[in-house]
Amino acid sequence: MRFDKPAGDNAADRGTVLGRPLPRIDGPLKTTGTAPYAYERHDVASGQLVGYPVGAAIAKGRIRSMDTRAAEAAPGVVAVITTLDMDRLPKARMNVAYLFGGRDIQHYHQAIAVVVADTFERARAAAALIRTDYDEDKSASFDLAEQRRAHQDDEVEPMARVGDFERAFAEAPVKLDQTYTTPGQSHAQMEPHASIAEWKDGALTLWSANQMIEWSKQALAKAFDLPAEKVRLDSPYIGGGFGAKLFLRADAVLAAVAARETGRPVKVALPRPLIANNATHRGLTIQRIRIGTDRDGRITAIGHDNTSNTLPGGDGENGAAPTRHFYAGANRLLVHRPLEMHLPESNAMRAPGETAGLMALEVAMDEMAGKLDMDPVAFRVLNDTQVDPDNPERPFSERHFVECLERGAERFGWNERNREPGARREGQWLIGHGVAGAYRGAPVQASGARVRLKPDGTVRVDTDMTDIGTGSYTIIAQTAAEMLGVPLDAVDVGLGDSDAPASAGSGGQWGAASSTAGVYAACVALRNTIAERLDADPEDLSFADGQVRHGDQRTPLTEVGGGEELVAEDKIEFGDFRSKEYLLATFGAHFVEVGVHAATGEIRVRRMLAVCDAGRILNPVTARSQVIGAMTMGVGAALMEELAVDTRYGFFANHDLAGYEVPVHADIPEQEVIFLEGEDPYSTPLKAKGVGELGICGVSAAVANAVHNATGVRVCDYPVTLDKLL
Ligand code: MOS
Repeated sequence: MRFDKPAGDNAADRGTVLGRPLPRIDGPLKTTGTAPYAYERHDVASGQLVGYPVGAAIAKGRIRSMDTRAAEAAPGVVAVITTLDMDRLPKARMNVAYLFGGRDIQHYHQAIAVVVADTFERARAAAALIRTDYDEDKSASFDLAEQRRAHQDDEVEPMARVGDFERAFAEAPVKLDQTYTTPGQSHAQMEPHASIAEWKDGALTLWSANQMIEWSKQALAKAFDLPAEKVRLDSPYIGGGFGAKLFLRADAVLAAVAARETGRPVKVALPRPLIANNATHRGLTIQRIRIGTDRDGRITAIGHDNTSNTLPGGDGENGAAPTRHFYAGANRLLVHRPLEMHLPESNAMRAPGETAGLMALEVAMDEMAGKLDMDPVAFRVLNDTQVDPDNPERPFSERHFVECLERGAERFGWNERNREPGARREGQWLIGHGVAGAYRGAPVQASGARVRLKPDGTVRVDTDMTDIGTGSYTIIAQTAAEMLGVPLDAVDVGLGDSDAPASAGSGGQWGAASSTAGVYAACVALRNTIAERLDADPEDLSFADGQVRHGDQRTPLTEVGGGEELVAEDKIEFGDFRSKEYLLATFGAHFVEVGVHAATGEIRVRRMLAVCDAGRILNPVTARSQVIGAMTMGVGAALMEELAVDTRYGFFANHDLAGYEVPVHADIPEQEVIFLEGEDPYSTPLKAKGVGELGICGVSAAVANAVHNATGVRVCDYPVTLDKLL
């Protein structure tokens, strides 16, 4: 099915199941620990060996030699495979660094060997016995600020240039020129990267934790020079992704290489330290923001110059991205400078670009409101735009940012905020309130599904879509239940298996909108098949209560197949009208109250409110869960999370969950989420958009702005830790 005109009324509109606040159908499996993650697949691939990965101990250079004799002789060891034993494997989609093979080292902890043994402990013990000599390239720099200074005069083609920014900024009566820094951040997902690989008759099966099954299946085929039909990837349950599992990582290729070498199934997990340095992170940024307004507070000039670290060939974290479309302003200059450095691989992490960019932009907006002596909500409302400021011919399909701000302000009690910073105190605590806006695009991807109506009247949906903790199982079941008129518990959903039709996968907050649209398309195809059986026009059929209704006739679904299973498959594909003629995005407003201890500077978040504008909400429970998780991650980014760069050796020193701090429940006392009622007919037939990345956008700035309101101290380098307040 092609989606190339705005969605009209359709069978998914009734809202008997879709749109309801239903608990997730995989909840009991998760809460009883019976949803198996990749490393726990004891039900497959019998005789599994364990591979332990070894990471490089330099950030740049070449391996001179590796001595593996002691490791090979260690108890329980079946094989030792080093990077010198094979040519470089080709890069997978979105990989910036190579994952395995060859002498060259591009970053610290790049995989250089895998030791395979009968137990995890023996593999790990033997791995420690490998001796590696390197020719280290000492010219590499790991200091982003230093690199930025060295490259400040480089000519860079701006991402966007509209009007005459320099002149408008120079002439603006009120202006801000401020620089912000955001540190590297680790996805720190609960489930480490892990894979089990098995080879049989020249075919590779991989049980893994992966967000994008089709991408990674194709990548495995390329890496191991196999036709795609000789590769199967299975990833039914995933313990968090956040972008870390969008593509293949070393666990997958090491397991496959080791299984091929030993002729036995091999499982490999990345130990926690390798998640910081072998796998990817959100790049560091240094962002200069310039905003000029007229005396009434209308933005006349906006400039955002972003610098980030990347390995050669990558793009880093593009903080200037959201500024392109968020606020009005006739003169704009947006620049992104990815600087090649040999820190580990920076790559996509939840709302890549927007998360770091809005951490800066939304503090700059707060500072500007202060200079103008305007309320920060009013300043944002004044600078709203209903057209793409980068291309004023293109309106937003739906944009209710002002409503997010106004509803939020009302609900939060914003007018009781003390506008004078540092002026409200409760006992030992200084109290502050902050606001920030949220912006994130609403992309979609082609997505397919297969739907079966069984003779017993139940429905089975198969798609390679993944559920990374987001609720995909549930909203997909709701879509099929709605379309076929059956109760939710009559729908069984299979996800994450590459044998099923290729889906959008989980990424870029496109998963929910795209995958349900694909299931909708497959259900339309099944309804057409049923109409044929009944010799009816599909338009005349309706489905409810386990029956097909056709005029006065009611046929139970158990009878339409005549004792046979009916199967239909289709996919949704998107015409470019939705991006060419309209700009599709999601919006939000975050409100935060903090307390800052007057003596110690300790910061406590006291309450948070998010108001989100993301089209039709398919399930308010799973959507809320996405947003509160993202708000929590935004608090981490604001107050705690920082990959500490060892600028001598080029690695992140705090590479475990003791040193890399993330919020815990006790840090997050109260969160409220409001979804605006609405639909976006330009998005998908179900008129829904994503929320999983929108939820983190702007959160950290709202926290930082609340800290400023509490204390009068403006911190421009994240995380906002207490030492910066004293
Ligand atoms: Mo997302 S950062 O595309 O998982």
